[in-house]
Amino acid sequence: MMAACLTVAITSCDDGRLYEKPVILPEEGRVVKLTGNLSGVGEWAGGYSIVVAGFADDSEYAVISKSVSTGADGRAEVVLSGIKDDVQRVELCVINRLRKRILTLRSADLSVADTIRLEVGSMNVGMYAAIQEQLFNTTCTSCHGASTFAGGGLYLTEGKSYDALVGAPSQLADDKLLVEPGNADASVLYQAIATRVSATWRQDHSNMVMNTAMRDVVKDWINGIKE
Ligand code: HEC
Repeated sequence: MMAACLTVAITSCDDGRLYEKPVILPEEGRVVKLTGNLSGVGEWAGGYSIVVAGFADDSEYAVISKSVSTGADGRAEVVLSGIKDDVQRVELCVINRLRKRILTLRSADLSVADTIRLEVGSMNVGMYAAIQEQLFNTTCTSCHGASTFAGGGLYLTEGKSYDALVGAPSQLADDKLLVEPGNADASVLYQAIATRVSATWRQDHSNMVMNTAMRDVVKDWINGIKE
């Protein structure tokens, strides 16, 4: 400590800038502070976790991450510090055991500042909410209820989808349920997005969901529903 002070003092004298330079501790890195009221954190289990994580450009694997937990009131406050220079983006996201990003809930560019505050407000970050938002709303509702048309009579719109799926009989496959709690492989919803079962339907769904991570989320969600 003495030696360090001495060095600073000497160089300061040399270049004449006595008080200008703040002392920077490089190992602290940059900091992200996330706050918000999050529900559904506990819905993610079996190798998934909700984290605040840093990613380098083009990589799907988190360089650094910290788990999100909430208090009894749902309040979450996560401080991720020591973020090194190779990290360009920080995200509130779901990662798997290999720290691979499964889906992004919020993201921010880190190149603009050393300290970022992310106030995400009230958010449902649960497994089903993610499926609704990132699968049904983006890929399915155009034909399943967002307009006047609902293919196969199936509404996958927010607020309607859960009851329309869980424990509900399939119109196209005899004696099958759209979602059979605890059994993804037997569920027509999962078959529709992950197998070729729909090749004989009026609308082939086989190639609609190429994102295998999303297929797995649907599978794990169905398998996790208690009867
Ligand atoms: C381009 C329009 C279109 C899109 C997009 C679409 N569907 Fe469909 N879907 C249909 C039609 C039409 C049927 C009924 C097929 C028939 O009657 O043979 C159907 C039927 C289904 C069924 C079977 C319903 C039953 O009762 O057996 C499921 C499950 C389904 N769709 C899920 C999805 C999911 C999940 C998505 C998004 C990944 C999706 N669909 C996207 C048009 C679409």
